[in-house]
This record gives sequence, C-alpha cells and structure tokens, in this order.
Amino acid sequence: MGQQIDDGDDMLTTSYKEDKDCVAIVTGGSRGIGAAISKRLAKRGMVLNILYERDARAAEQVAEMISSEEGKVTTHQVDVSSEAEVNSLVEDVIASAGGIDLLINNAAISDDHLIMMTTLQEWERVLKVNITGTFLMTRAVLPYMLDQGHGNIINISSNSARIPGPGQAAYAASKGAVESFTRAVAMEVGRKGIRANTVAPGKIMTDMTRNLVDKLGAGTDGSRWGTPDDIAAVVSFLASAEADYVQGQVITVDGGRLVMRPHPR
Ligand SMILES: NC(=O)c1ccc[n+]([C@@H]2O[C@H](COP(=O)([O-])OP(=O)(O)OC[C@H]3O[C@@H](n4cnc5c(N)ncnc54)[C@H](OP(=O)(O)O)[C@@H]3O)[C@@H](O)[C@H]2O)c1
Repeated sequence: MGQQIDDGDDMLTTSYKEDKDCVAIVTGGSRGIGAAISKRLAKRGMVLNILYERDARAAEQVAEMISSEEGKVTTHQVDVSSEAEVNSLVEDVIASAGGIDLLINNAAISDDHLIMMTTLQEWERVLKVNITGTFLMTRAVLPYMLDQGHGNIINISSNSARIPGPGQAAYAASKGAVESFTRAVAMEVGRKGIRANTVAPGKIMTDMTRNLVDKLGAGTDGSRWGTPDDIAAVVSFLASAEADYVQGQVITVDGGRLVMRPHPR
C-alpha cells in the first residue's frame, strides 16, 4: 500500500507492506510489554525478530508460542547498549530477511535510588541501556529504511518522564530523553517516509513492577494496573497504515493516571 501527500514544496511518500512481508525487530521482546507486542504483531503475520539480553529461556518461550500459531520468529541475544552487537544484529537481519520495516525500541532497565544515593555507575547504566540503546538501534536501521523509502520506529518511554516517583531520576531522565529523541528522528527523516512515535505506558504489571504490585497492591489509587496487552494494542495501531498521519508524538497509555492523580485541593 502506498500513499502520497502533497505538502507544498515536499512530496511525502509513505508506503506500507502487507503485514506478512513486514520485518519487525522488538528489543526486549522476551518478557512483559515486549513479549505482548511481539505476539500481537506476529498474529498479524509479521516476521518477528525478538531481542533479549540474558533470559534465553523467556525468549524461547515467546518464540515457541508464536511458532505454535504458525508465526515467523527468530530470537537474538543482543545487548542494545553495545554498538558492535547492535550493528551486527541489524546486518544479520538484513542479510536473512532482506530489510527492516518496523523497529520497536522497548528494552529498558530501572535501578531506582534517591539522587544523593545514586552512583555514577548506576546512573550511566540506566541511560546507556534506555537512551543510548534506543539511539544505537535507530542509527543502525535508518540507512536501510532510507534506502527502501519507508520505515516505522516506535519507542517506549514511560509516564515517569512527566511524573517521576522518588528514586526514579535516572529512569525518568532516560525516558524524557527517549521522547525528545523520537521527535528528533521524526524531524530528521519524517519527510523520507519514516514515522517515529513514542508510547508512554503508565503502571503495567510486568517483572519490572512486580515488587511495586506486591507492595502497593492493585488499584490503591483508584486506577487499575494496566496489562502488557493494553500497550501492545496501541503499538499495533501505530505499526499500521491507519496511523499514517501520526508522526513525532507521545501517546500516553496509563488508564488516565496522569490526569486523574490526586489534586492538591
Ligand atoms: N512495566 C511498567 O509499568 C512500565 C511502565 C512504563 C514504561 N515501561 C517501559 O516499557 C518497556 C518494557 O517494560 P517491561 O515492564 O515489559 O520490562 P521487563 O519485564 O523488565 O522486560 C525488559 C525486557 O528488556 C530486555 N532488556 C533489558 N536490558 C536489555 C539490554 N541491555 N539489551 C537487550 N535487552 C534488554 C529484557 O531482556 P532479558 O530478560 O533477557 O534481560 C526484557 O526482555 C520498558 O521500556 C519500560 O521502561 C514499563
């Protein structure tokens, strides 16, 4: 499918392959939100490349589930904060699949400490995985997306970028950077047929938040915990031609938590 938009001086051309021909990379696709995104995109028929760092078993389980439903999937052990590993992964995917149409930068870590207690090493590790990883993956796929004249990049931030909790300085800073970076990508290559958007989840039940769920219980502030599928649904929309006119945006998916949080009055 192709679409041409006459925008004065610029002719913007965005094309979308059929789902079955669409090659996707999902970083952190082995667990939580990334696993839900991978399963949903695979159900649509896309060719999935799932990245994980340590937990090979979790990645294999997701791949087995996808394969059992006739989905196409390969798992790759890649540290997204390693320039060499990222570049070689992208070369491998291009060599085997012939292109990359969709990149979901979902992998991230959190390591919460109050600012005064945060070591430089802890700070740098969070930023290195969350924002440098997003940069490295994006930089590696862009030449191919530009060559083929289309591409779609969806980055996962967090509503902690706007309402950080105590101890979340490094995580919040990294997620704010992901949102700014996404706008920069849209600005630089949006006129070359590439879309870049961010999805900002609220509190979603995954391994990352398991401690919090145990500590706070579900729905203590009147809002329910989200599920990985709540996020995957919006990512899937952005990964479709129906979202063709959505560019450079942050879409918050938090059950209204940002607007419904307790008001000082
Ligand atoms: N859960 C929430 O409430 C919430 C809220 C807002 C935003 N988010 C964001 O949503 C995304 C997914 O979160 P989640 O809760 O699903 O996380 P999760 O359950 O902790 O899973 C994290 C995933 O990232 C992978 N990963 C971590 N470091 C990596 C690295 N250096 N290189 C490659 N892969 C790496 C992990 O692989 P291994 O298991 O192999 O290490 C795993 O697949 C993250 O960007 C997170 O910041 C989550």
